Amino acid sequence: MRFAQPLLAIAAVSWLACGVSAEAKTRAECERDYKPQVGQAGKDVIWVPTPDELVSRMLTMAKVTPKDYVVDLGAGDGKIAIAAGKKFGATALGIEYNPEMARLAQCYVQAEGVTDKVKIVQGDIFKEDFSKATVVTMYLLPELNLCVRHRLLAMKPGTRVASHSFTMGEWDADEPFEVEYRNAYLWIVPARVGGSWNFRNGNGSVEFTASLTQSFQKIGGEVAVGGRKQPLVGASLQGDAIRFAFADAKGVTQHFTGTVRGATITGSLRASGVADTEVVGNAQGALAPAPWAEMANGCGRFYGK
Ligand SMILES: C[S@@+](CC[C@H](N)C(=O)[O-])C[C@H]1O[C@@H](n2cnc3c(N)ncnc32)[C@H](O)[C@@H]1O
Repeated sequence: MRFAQPLLAIAAVSWLACGVSAEAKTRAECERDYKPQVGQAGKDVIWVPTPDELVSRMLTMAKVTPKDYVVDLGAGDGKIAIAAGKKFGATALGIEYNPEMARLAQCYVQAEGVTDKVKIVQGDIFKEDFSKATVVTMYLLPELNLCVRHRLLAMKPGTRVASHSFTMGEWDADEPFEVEYRNAYLWIVPARVGGSWNFRNGNGSVEFTASLTQSFQKIGGEVAVGGRKQPLVGASLQGDAIRFAFADAKGVTQHFTGTVRGATITGSLRASGVADTEVVGNAQGALAPAPWAEMANGCGRFYGK
């Protein structure tokens, strides 16, 4: 009996030290304060939760790891942000306009024990800054997708975007997928490469110019080598990874693979039977204007314009 009180004190201290907040509720207790109805109105779109299996698949398709910062636009009850933290170990933020819904989602964050990784904020996706996300998820509407598209395209090349149900206008998905008859889509934010690039190796014995055209992740154009122009073959861009092929001055097919970093592309040329040649490309002047990356028509009203 004499030990009962110190033991209780030790138990309480270790319980708190384990990160279990005295205020953490169970999910059922969270719902006692507020229970949302599927289909209820939201600011720009109603609330319908993404099924668990599709949530997992979206995060898997986006290759989410503990290094990622996932932002769910229109977070609802927070399930995508919570799964990103709990199952994939990522840091995650959910942005939800409805204050009661945001409070419920944050209560679930506590109930699921992921307050160290996941946060829900009450806010408007058209006002909140999510530019630092490495993965963006959304289940909105086609028009809303279109109106955040320019902000997604301004993010770091390689950022992954996963959308439940809805597409992104002329920006074709890099990987469409389907879970139990529901469509979903994955995009990878492309680097800006449209414009003219001069490539050379260290001693200048290899030199060519690539004039690249770009619309979202689709690229094409031509190469000038040895005073002769030719169309690029097999050109592709995935995030900051670029590839194309052309025939050199001797008619040998050269396969270029490189990484885009602003106004520089570093990479190598590969031709059968010879060692790879390291080359660096520098943008010649400013990159070409990118109308495809600008705000879509009719979106100004979401931004108070
Ligand atoms: C279709 S639900 C998707 C919920 C969650 N992302 C999921 O997939 O389970 C869309 C959510 O966006 C919220 N919403 C609507 N307009 C919004 C806005 N402008 N800013 C933030 N959230 C918004 C709604 O309240 C709703 O909870």
